[in-house]
Amino acid sequence: MSRRLAGAVVAVVGTGGLGREIAAVLRERGATVVTAGRGDGEVRLDIRDPEAGDALVAHARTVHGRLDGVVVASGVVAFGTLEETDHVVVEELFLTNAIGPLWLAQRVLPALRESRGFLAALSGVVAASPMPGMVAYSASKAALAAGLAALRREVRRAGVSVCDVQPPHTETGLATRPLAGTAPRMPEGLTPRTVAERVVVAIEGDEALVTADGLLTGQTFSDQRISGVTPASRNRL
Ligand SMILES: NC(=O)c1ccc[n+]([C@@H]2O[C@H](COP(=O)([O-])OP(=O)(O)OC[C@H]3O[C@@H](n4cnc5c(N)ncnc54)[C@H](OP(=O)(O)O)[C@@H]3O)[C@@H](O)[C@H]2O)c1
Repeated sequence: MSRRLAGAVVAVVGTGGLGREIAAVLRERGATVVTAGRGDGEVRLDIRDPEAGDALVAHARTVHGRLDGVVVASGVVAFGTLEETDHVVVEELFLTNAIGPLWLAQRVLPALRESRGFLAALSGVVAASPMPGMVAYSASKAALAAGLAALRREVRRAGVSVCDVQPPHTETGLATRPLAGTAPRMPEGLTPRTVAERVVVAIEGDEALVTADGLLTGQTFSDQRISGVTPASRNRL
């Protein structure tokens, strides 16, 4: 299946490094983008609000008449061993990275069923390769990835696509803004542009999963399964 983005109305939740770049690539493909975030964006929302998706749908429908896709590019990170990590930080990671995106999906899916649209979200390499020193972050991203994989099967018959993108470390500055702890030294990450372009190609190609290795090698998940190439990812986040 290939999805044309020209003329589509796509909401991007999260106005950080990856959200901004994904919005830019979507616009280059001819999509109309609705930006949404806590501090800026056309729609002000907090993904920790169970009803946040309603504002997104209402805005898209009122201003553009439809909603064809949602990209979830919001998230928070924290570093430190589990024993060092305050329980409030653990809760916050799950609320923002896993529970919030699922709440949002619940609210936007009726509109996406109508448009036979798509939902894409950024989990992260840690969903597949959980890291010591990032236990709660890894667990929150693995929870999101599991939710997206199951949701994809739940809504496939309705013509709605669900895509999980698992980037390795990307140079957006996320690691310098943790809820707690300090980032370990990391090798140079990918550019936000590289990740954003891959996210959009995955949406256009109705890909279920973009792995970190797929992002580093340019392979699709099916290519990797066919060739058996699934090396351990080098970069973490
Ligand atoms: N950069 C990487 O290395 C990397 C690797 C793998 C996965 N990811 C994932 O990619 C996503 C985007 O990360 P990024 O690199 O673009 O980081 P970023 O530049 O820090 O952007 C994160 C965005 O999420 C927003 N956000 C945080 N909490 C929110 C909430 N409760 N409601 C709504 N928006 C909220 C932030 O808004 P505020 O400005 O209001 O805080 C910010 O705009 C995250 O889920 C991250 O885990 C990133």
